[in-house]
Amino acid sequence: MYILGIETSCDDTAAAVIEAKGGFSKPSFSVLANASYSQVTIHKKFGGIVPNLASRAHLEKIIPTIKNTFRIAKIKPDNIDLITVTRGPGLLPSLLVGVNFARALAYRFRKPIIGVNHIEGHIYSNWLGRKRASSIRFPALILIVSGGHTELVLMKDYGKYKIIGQTLDDAAGECFDKTARLLGLGFPGGPAIAKLAEQAKRDLQIKLPRPMINTENYNFSFSGLKTAVLYSYKRKNKSAMAYEIQEAIVDVLVSKTLKAMRNFNPKSVMIAGGVAANKKLRKEMTLKIAPYKVPLFVPDFIYTTDNAAMIAAAGYFNYLKNKPNRDSWKKVEANANLRLEL
Ligand code: KG4
Ligand code: ZN
Repeated sequence: MYILGIETSCDDTAAAVIEAKGGFSKPSFSVLANASYSQVTIHKKFGGIVPNLASRAHLEKIIPTIKNTFRIAKIKPDNIDLITVTRGPGLLPSLLVGVNFARALAYRFRKPIIGVNHIEGHIYSNWLGRKRASSIRFPALILIVSGGHTELVLMKDYGKYKIIGQTLDDAAGECFDKTARLLGLGFPGGPAIAKLAEQAKRDLQIKLPRPMINTENYNFSFSGLKTAVLYSYKRKNKSAMAYEIQEAIVDVLVSKTLKAMRNFNPKSVMIAGGVAANKKLRKEMTLKIAPYKVPLFVPDFIYTTDNAAMIAAAGYFNYLKNKPNRDSWKKVEANANLRLEL
């Protein structure tokens, strides 16, 4: 079936068309179009996302983005079988643009529609790409690391999640963004720190804490790291500091994931969310998991940060379970604080 995905939860106006088949037993996806318009230049000068500017830009860009997606996919709206849209969590003014537009499309073209959880979308980014989907086994352990979320999730089956640990304060991506700001680097901070760290060497004089790395639970805390950077940063050690920030965040993420892996014995491990684009995290996780002989899945780079193909993939599994009808547009609602269904 052909699925349209729409994603406007934060600062990317994204749309995608995917072809999904195989059902729960042998799912496979091909992405026919995956378009997005990034608002980074709008928010850059404010050092963070401004919700009202974000929703205005979504309003301006949603029609061209969707038209572009249909053009690239060489498909007409009439030939779509399902519309999927992010309904939360995220910024409400941003979510409302996508949700209302998707509902109008569903009504106009008489198509079923499904509201998708953004975090569930990130999880299913691991199912996109060649031959991946059918090799994932449950239970799966997923490290979700984005700008707003840091969670360790145990996924027992499609749609069955248990959050076993989460951040008590800042998310990992937020920590990258905030410390990058202290260093005078651009927004978003993650890629800026990663780029600087790549060329840097370790400076043994700089030692940041690894918050909660030895606690018995699977929770995280990143706000202390930001404070530690504030006190130890000097202009002359900028790149070495970027290096150590990345090391500290990656150390904690990898260590907690391994701890959870040893305790829950998953059949697959995955990383998901914007921070999954971090090469150091991908490398360390691959190295440390290797001895355990559990397959590690990491999304293709194009599907790590916010995109609509992952929303369409998540929507497919929801569709198989719930089979929405043509009246479903009446029920889809945005929810800024939507939780992962347990
Ligand atoms: O998933 P995402 O695109 O949006 C949210 O749902 O939050 O994640 C965005 C986050 C930002 O905090 C950004 O700094 C971080 O992902 N990020 C990275 C990298 N690329 C994006 N963090 C570290 N290294 C990267 N290469
Ligand atoms: Zn996201």
